[in-house]
Amino acid sequence: PENVGILAMELIFPSQYVDQTELEAFDGVSAGKYTIGLGQQKMGFCSDREDVCSLCLTVVQKLLEKNSIRPEDIGRLEVGTETIIDKSKSVKSVLMQLFEPYGVTDLEGVDCTNACYGGTAALFNCISWVESSAWNGRYALAVAADIAVYAKGPARPTGGAGAVAMLIGPNAPLVLDRGIRSTYVKHVYDFYKPDLTSEYAVVDGKLSVQCYLSALDNCYQLYVKNASKRLGKNIDLNDFDAVIFHSPYGKLVQKSLARLTLNDYLLTPKELRSQKFPGLEQFANVKLEESYFDRDVEKAFMTHSQATFNSKTKPSLFVAVENGNMYTPSVYGCLASLLISKSVSELAGNKILIFSYGSGLVSSMFSITVGKNTDNLKTIASLLSQSISLMSSRQKVEPQKFEALMELRQEVSHKAPYTPVGSIDSFFPGTYYLTQIDEKHRRFYERV
Ligand code: ACO
Repeated sequence: PENVGILAMELIFPSQYVDQTELEAFDGVSAGKYTIGLGQQKMGFCSDREDVCSLCLTVVQKLLEKNSIRPEDIGRLEVGTETIIDKSKSVKSVLMQLFEPYGVTDLEGVDCTNACYGGTAALFNCISWVESSAWNGRYALAVAADIAVYAKGPARPTGGAGAVAMLIGPNAPLVLDRGIRSTYVKHVYDFYKPDLTSEYAVVDGKLSVQCYLSALDNCYQLYVKNASKRLGKNIDLNDFDAVIFHSPYGKLVQKSLARLTLNDYLLTPKELRSQKFPGLEQFANVKLEESYFDRDVEKAFMTHSQATFNSKTKPSLFVAVENGNMYTPSVYGCLASLLISKSVSELAGNKILIFSYGSGLVSSMFSITVGKNTDNLKTIASLLSQSISLMSSRQKVEPQKFEALMELRQEVSHKAPYTPVGSIDSFFPGTYYLTQIDEKHRRFYERV
């Protein structure tokens, strides 16, 4: 099959949020730390009424309904998540509740886990299946979902929650480019979840930022090498209409775009640099691996790349800034934000560069070519606009109440039997929620 890629997309996020300005005051940090320093405005969160399975049930059912896809049209279903509520039973198996009533049990795929990277693993597996000899002509569905919560402290404002589902098949409006993607994997303890009874990660914030930037450098260098070889010309940021990233917080994404400009600068032959990068001569001998926290380099390249950031990356940050880090769906929330930020005629034919990062660490860089058929694009973009427009009807919760709900989650995250107490009043129509966990830890759901 040709032009395998994303045919349809759905995105969901919590109906409740906490305001980052209010959280700064409540946490007693300096005004502007979360909003300017991290670049975050609001943070979506879930009460004890939602878990990773309910998020996945909601996003999959909504994708099927809104696109008039029948359960029997799906042949593979794969979930990327790091929100582990069971060490054996996959979230995918829980989603079978949406398929079994239609006699659909022939569904390959299970869950993929490595921090924020699981969604990309699920996507790549779905693409590979459609391109393979195992394909049976049906669609694949890649789902990414997480509830990102941190212990009280400096990481807490970088939480979030949400889910994305992507329908994969041939002749797609968003085609994953073949034969050029790059991957960078290493064993590091930057962010990990060794305590299986807690939802919280053990996180070395500074190390995680360094690992993210170093993975970005490595993925970009290899992507550029692969793409330049395949296309027979030198590739740089000018070849892309949009550049999107996994977004732990907005500021890191802006720094990342600047970092790619630094990579382009260092990849440019010395004799051409002053012409292509005027004013940056003093950085000729910068070494990537020594400059992660070099303020002069960061400032110079952020200033240099400001216009590129504004045009190629900033439009992709809408969901990330308004909802926070969703972990596995984060980068796909950026893709969704990008798709609704332009008219379909502006989008047609675009090249989108994508960086996916999961701590621990696994990362990849790949690209999407947007098709020229504006009818398909129009459907994806207008359905996503509908989903994202719900952002403005969310309910704001005071930091104090947010903290109480976080404490409740902390207490009950593995409790059984347990009956959730959180209100369901603010849920968007079509949301699945947890009604009961019985004494054998079996979970039961209803839909609003
Ligand atoms: N006004 C404006 N800016 C401010 C203010 C203020 N009042 N106060 C601080 N800042 C700036 C700081 O200068 C800093 O900017 P810089 O990054 O350019 O240096 C920024 O705000 C953050 O302040 P720090 O003191 O560096 O923040 P802290 O160390 O307390 O926490 C961190 C930040 C480490 C990112 C933390 O939130 C964290 O651990 N998050 C989770 C890990 C994470 O997201 N890692 C990213 C990759 S891995 C992943 O995706 C999970």
